[in-house]
Parts: sequence; structure tokens; C-alpha cells
Amino acid sequence: MSVSDREPAARAAQLPPVIQGGMGVGVSSWRLARQVAQSGGLGVISGVASDLLVARWLQDGDQGGHVQAAMAEYPDQDFVAATLKRFYRPDGRKPGAAYRPIPRLDHHQRLDAVRLAVLGAFVQVRMAKQGHDGPVGINLLEKIQLWSPATLYGAMLAHVDVVLVGAGLPTHIPRLLDGFANGREISLPIDVAGSESADELVITLNPRTVVPPAPDALPRPVFLAIISSHILGAYLARDDATKPDGFVVEGPTAGGHNAPPRRNELDEGGEPIYGPRDVVDLDKLMKVGLPYWLAGGQASPKHVVAARAGGAQGVQIGTVFALCTESGITAPLRTALRKSLDAGTAEVRTDPRASPTGFPFKVVQMPGTIADPEVSAARDRICDLGYLRTPYRREDGTVGQRCPSEPIDAYVRKGGTVEETEGRKCLCNGLMASAGVPQMRPGGVVEPPLLTLGQDLEAVHALLEMFPDGWSATDVMTWLLSELDATG
Ligand SMILES: Cc1cc2nc3c(=O)[nH]c(=O)nc-3n(C[C@H](O)[C@H](O)[C@H](O)COP(=O)(O)O)c2cc1C
Repeated sequence: MSVSDREPAARAAQLPPVIQGGMGVGVSSWRLARQVAQSGGLGVISGVASDLLVARWLQDGDQGGHVQAAMAEYPDQDFVAATLKRFYRPDGRKPGAAYRPIPRLDHHQRLDAVRLAVLGAFVQVRMAKQGHDGPVGINLLEKIQLWSPATLYGAMLAHVDVVLVGAGLPTHIPRLLDGFANGREISLPIDVAGSESADELVITLNPRTVVPPAPDALPRPVFLAIISSHILGAYLARDDATKPDGFVVEGPTAGGHNAPPRRNELDEGGEPIYGPRDVVDLDKLMKVGLPYWLAGGQASPKHVVAARAGGAQGVQIGTVFALCTESGITAPLRTALRKSLDAGTAEVRTDPRASPTGFPFKVVQMPGTIADPEVSAARDRICDLGYLRTPYRREDGTVGQRCPSEPIDAYVRKGGTVEETEGRKCLCNGLMASAGVPQMRPGGVVEPPLLTLGQDLEAVHALLEMFPDGWSATDVMTWLLSELDATG
């Protein structure tokens, strides 16, 4: 069976007016996505580190048995049995015990690591789709290229409805989705620092090798590219090979990573300066003729109505969902965060240096987190999760992996510069900790959390007034859709 390329574009135009944005790591949890999808929105899980999250949930006893229920539907039950044997601990871990490491995925694409990444994405999507037929999406970061094929394939095996990709120029995604939809092997050129040509390193994923009883065909999800410029939108849409089915247009106040500003300058507080040239020209984007959603400070019933009146399909929202009951941020952290926001003591900064990706990243300035200078100074630089490592060409011609937040001498030995390491934070460890599955090391060392939110907090204050003790995803959805429903 051949899956039509046109069909997803038509489906994009039918998607709901509210997208709950993907929030890694684990903040847009399967519970959050499921609840949003059941409440009239597009629920999106973050695909980042699905392999590690699933392995850790199993080691924590898989409360409620949701992971195992999803695994029971996976086509390769031999791999499921091996994974359960390796990671599942019915009574959880001993207090303070470290999690078992998982095989790290790198450019060699070792089969056991690829298989776990496929299974992880499958499980998360399956759990988010459980018990309803609302639409569920998965969010990926273009910068995390080495995981893209495995994560996409796992999500497609679970019949994900939408794929949303940000943090980079996602030119290869349509080809990958079409290939997997038709049961074909795909290849993906990987950027290698220090390489002369763009396609020197290519990774492949063959469904038949990775998941032995791989289906011949799979539903082709809708693909939404997350962009911050109409020029990028027009560029992607120019060629059928790179054309998405729609866009999420993200402004600079949005949580997580942001596109760098055109003007390479910082204000006196050290934050990037976004100016008129960073504003997306929506009239020009509209001429591209694809549906789009606005993101960044769009969380109110009035914004939803205004976005639609202006020609958008709707809005994508992060921050208020990150703070709701179903969010993957641990309950104590979420409560502390809500209280600090209420008291006006938790500022959100756009940190131009924090993320190893080199993109500006929003960091909540909260005591006890990595943003706290004392906590940060007490943390030993270590890179033991590695999602943001990127390939580089060694002098002997072979390929290695490095991350500018790893120990400085190691990074410099790998051909990096000290300047590139300055101010970098370990997002992998910080975000895993805020999702309640922190790295633990000998001597009782527990990784501290790192929090990100958007800078436009008006909606948070509106919800704090309505729900001083906290809110659910359904509360947010009902509020957001209230004026749209009233106006039809
Ligand atoms: C906690 C948090 C984590 C985020 N992580 C991601 C991510 O992994 N990938 C992504 O494309 N966007 C990410 N975002 C951006 C959201 O998907 C969304 O576009 C944005 O938050 C919208 O702006 P708002 O926060 O003002 O509602 C994140 C946002 C937040 C608040």
C-alpha cells in the first residue's frame, strides 16, 4: 500500500484550535497529552529521552501498570520481554539507588539502543492515546538528530497523529515520514562538526531489522514545522521534499529553546534583544497557504479568538500546561513554582549561554535549581546522559561525540574551545531531575532540577486568580475555548 502524500495536508487543516506544545524532558507527559486530547485540543508528548524515561519508570515500579500495558501492544514481544527483564522492578528501586544506565544512542546506531528508543516513543504515544480518539502528537528537536529516526518510527508504530519539530530546520522529516509510512528503510545525513561535506555521516533505520514483524505500511502523520520566521516557512514549503503540512509560529517569549535573534547583542541584563526584524510577517506566511498556529504568550480565550480571526488555525500553548496537575514536573516543584510565580519571586530569563545547542533557552530563576548560583557551583560538570552531544570529526578522521556542557578539559581535548563551554548547563540532567527521575551517583549525589517556562506570565496570573490551588489540563482547555465556543 502506498500512503498518499496529500492526505496529511488535508488533515492538518482539521486539527483543533489549541495545541498543547511539546515540552521536554517529560513535562508534556503522556498524562497531560491524553487529558488535552480528551478536552478538545491536540495533546503533544515530548519525544526527547523517551528511552530513558520509560526505562526509569519501569525501575520505579511502573505505578498503575501503564507502561507495561502499552508494551503489551508492541509488535516485537521478544524485545519487550528483554526490556522488562533488564529494567522492571515491581517494588521500585531501593531508596537512593542509582538507575540502571541504558545503551547510549550515537552515530553507530547500535541495534539495542535504537530498539529501546523506538520502544520508548511507542510506549509514550500509546499511553497518551489510551482510552479516547482525540489527536495526539509527538515533539522532536531537530538538533537531536541521532534520535530522530528511531523516535519517529516508534511514534508511527503507535499511530501518532501529528509530528511537530522545532529547534532547527527540519528539512528531512517529510521524507522520513513518507519512508516509514511505506515500510521503507530511511537514511538521514548527520551534521558533523569539522566535516567538509554535509552528508559525510549518514545513519539508517530499517524497520524490518529494528522491529522484526514490522508492518508493511503505517499511517503517515501530519507534520508541523515549528518556525520563528516566515522566510523559513517559505523556504521549507518551496520544495515538495521539505514541505510540511503546517506551521507553529513561535515568538521569543515562548518557553524552552528560542530561535536566536537577528541582532547578535545582549541587553544590560545579559538577555538577547529581540527587535522588529524578529517579528514574523504573518501576511507573508499566509501566502504560503498552509495552516498555522501561533505560539508564545497566546494563552487566553481572547488570543484564541484573535488568532483565528487573523487567519491562524489557532494557538500553541506551553507555560500554563507545564504548571497544571498532569504536567510531568514533580508535584513539589510545581507547587513551589506556582507559589513563587504568585509571589512574583520567580523570574524567567532568556539565557543565551545555558543550552549546549547554542540556542537561547528560558531558565526560571528559582532557589534550589541549577539557576541558583550556589547549586550550579556545587555541581560537578559531567555528561552521562548525552542527548545533546553532537558528532565531531577527530584528527584521525574518525567521528566522536561531544557536548559543551561536559567537563571543560574533555571538551577542549575533543577540539572544542573553552569559550564554547562558558555558561553551559547540563539540560539533560537538570530536566530529568525536574521530571522526577534524577541521576543519582555514589556518595548520595542527586542531580538538581532545572526549570523552563515562557516569559509571558499573564495567563499564569489569570489562572492563579481562578484556581489558587492549581488547575488541570481540562480547566485550561475549558477556559481557552470559552469565547470560541460562545462565538461559534
Ligand atoms: C517547560 C517547557 C518546555 C518546553 N520544551 C519544548 C520542547 O522540548 N520542544 C519544543 O518544540 N518546544 C518546547 N517548549 C515550547 C512550547 O512547546 C510552546 O511552544 C511554548 O511554551 C508556547 O509559549 P508559552 O509558554 O508562552 O505558552 C517548551 C515550553 C515549556 C514551558
